[in-house]
Amino acid sequence: MLERHDDRPIGIFDSGIGGLTVTAAIRQALPRERLIYFGDNLHMPYGQRSLQEVQRFSLAIVEALRAQDCKLIVIACNTASAAALAAVRTAHPGFPFVGMEPAVKPAVEHTSTGTVGVIATTATFQSELYASIVSRFAGDVTVLHQPCPGLVRQIESGAFDHPATEAMLRGWLEPMLAQHIDALVLGCTHYPIVRPVIERIVGPGVRIIDPAPAIARRVDHLLQNLELSATDHATGGLTCWTSGDPATFAVLMERLHLHQAEVRQAVWREGVLTLP
Ligand code: DGL
Repeated sequence: MLERHDDRPIGIFDSGIGGLTVTAAIRQALPRERLIYFGDNLHMPYGQRSLQEVQRFSLAIVEALRAQDCKLIVIACNTASAAALAAVRTAHPGFPFVGMEPAVKPAVEHTSTGTVGVIATTATFQSELYASIVSRFAGDVTVLHQPCPGLVRQIESGAFDHPATEAMLRGWLEPMLAQHIDALVLGCTHYPIVRPVIERIVGPGVRIIDPAPAIARRVDHLLQNLELSATDHATGGLTCWTSGDPATFAVLMERLHLHQAEVRQAVWREGVLTLP
């Protein structure tokens, strides 16, 4: 039987540049796919907002991405996934979505000290999704959770490896180290950008878990199962929009080694998002 293909783009969004860590993993795993990315820098950080507000933004972003004729949407933001994954699925029955959730399960499987850590936004920790993951997967392992208010803004300011960033991270991670964590879950898609700093603080005895490669594999499986993979001769590509400043966004992308991408200005008006 002839396999079917689909060259429409995959839509990806986050509050800012964080979802680019997931985008990079998808690009590496699926180089023939065309990706379109939206960073909602106007409303960043999501993690300090209410889950209801983030859900409203996410529903509008999904409408805008679907208007670009996406075949699948990745919510490359833990906060937006916690706030809105169920709501977007209800609003778009049958449409494929992939969301993020803190990777507590692999951390629990890895630990030998019996204590693991999760860092994420304040809003993610307040969500039902987080509570349900811990109750499903923690078993008798102690899961320490630590919100990191201010870290997303620090990363968006370009201070990836800066003494102030390191000081913030030390303040959150050292108390967890004192409780003998041996696995640390990066529960916000911005945090892999500061992974080298985190590694320096926690040392080689703590396994750092970034779910981005697993998300890329999940996207691949879904596309194959739904016969939505790009054709063999497709060349892929990445187009980005931000609701913030495109020039700033482009500089940060370059620093994340995402080249050849064009950054366009997205516009919010009365709760509706347009991607011109
Ligand atoms: N990157 C996001 C996440 O994964 C959101 C960060 C924020 O805007 O606070 O949670």
